[in-house]
Amino acid sequence: MALISATADQKANTLQPFLKWAGGKRWFVQKHADIFPKNFRRYVEPFLGGGSVFFHLQPRKSLLGDVNPDVISVYRGVKEDWKAVVDKLRQHQKLHSDEHYYMVRAQQPTDAVSQASRMLYLNRTCFNGIYRVNLQGEFNVPRGTKNWVLRDDDQFEEISKLLTRAEIRLTDFESLIDEAGKEDFIFCDPPYTVRHNFNGFVKYNEKLFSWSDQERLAAALLRAKARGATVLATNANHHSVRDLYESHGFRLLTTSRYSSISASAEYRKQFDELIILS
Ligand SMILES: C[S@@+](CC[C@H](N)C(=O)[O-])C[C@H]1O[C@@H](n2cnc3c(N)ncnc32)[C@H](O)[C@@H]1O
Repeated sequence: MALISATADQKANTLQPFLKWAGGKRWFVQKHADIFPKNFRRYVEPFLGGGSVFFHLQPRKSLLGDVNPDVISVYRGVKEDWKAVVDKLRQHQKLHSDEHYYMVRAQQPTDAVSQASRMLYLNRTCFNGIYRVNLQGEFNVPRGTKNWVLRDDDQFEEISKLLTRAEIRLTDFESLIDEAGKEDFIFCDPPYTVRHNFNGFVKYNEKLFSWSDQERLAAALLRAKARGATVLATNANHHSVRDLYESHGFRLLTTSRYSSISASAEYRKQFDELIILS
């Protein structure tokens, strides 16, 4: 069995993501910090979410995207004026109650700072940190049990500094990947979908990530690889997904929260995550 050594060490100066996000890759970064390339011109992450890998790598230059406007608003607001975001979070902390939570949940602010602080407040105090919207695209998760709006380990100033070196786009993944070229490093962590599964899509917001999105993603990554970009993607370890990449010269490894990276097919069953490398 071919093993790539996994490390439990975090970089001493790793920044902590400010959002709690479903499918977050903090565990991946902690276990497999040595899998990321050391040298690249620009970092490209089209499925940003909580950005665990971005915060770990702290790239000199990056292009970040997500299709979720609430996610993008947090990065834009903190980049624009982190102090104003923290001031607003302090106000939310002071006023935090059922009444305040549901009032803020119903609001639709239009400026970047208010959008960012609203999303951070809701993400930190809602039920289990879940993100869910109704058919109108309105966030509809009830209040949870956590009451901390600001955390001791928040690093908004450092994150804002890092974001000054990032372009942040509210966009579907394909156009972002199509911008990547020679010496760029693309990290992709899409919603996991498999083929022939009647329940086979993940509902992240009002948009579905369908099987045809998986095919579109594989084709975009293949084009990027041909242009000279380095690709690292994670996905479900399912034969339908393996089939999309295997015959196109991508290297496939498997891992899970509970195991080391492996290239062995025999051990496939116990690994639920696929790692796709160019
Ligand atoms: C599994 S999460 C990424 C988690 C992230 N790696 C982390 O560590 O927190 C997938 C993200 O893809 C976004 N997404 C879903 N469909 C998308 C699309 N078509 N284009 C771009 N982003 C999309 C979702 O909004 C979500 O934030």
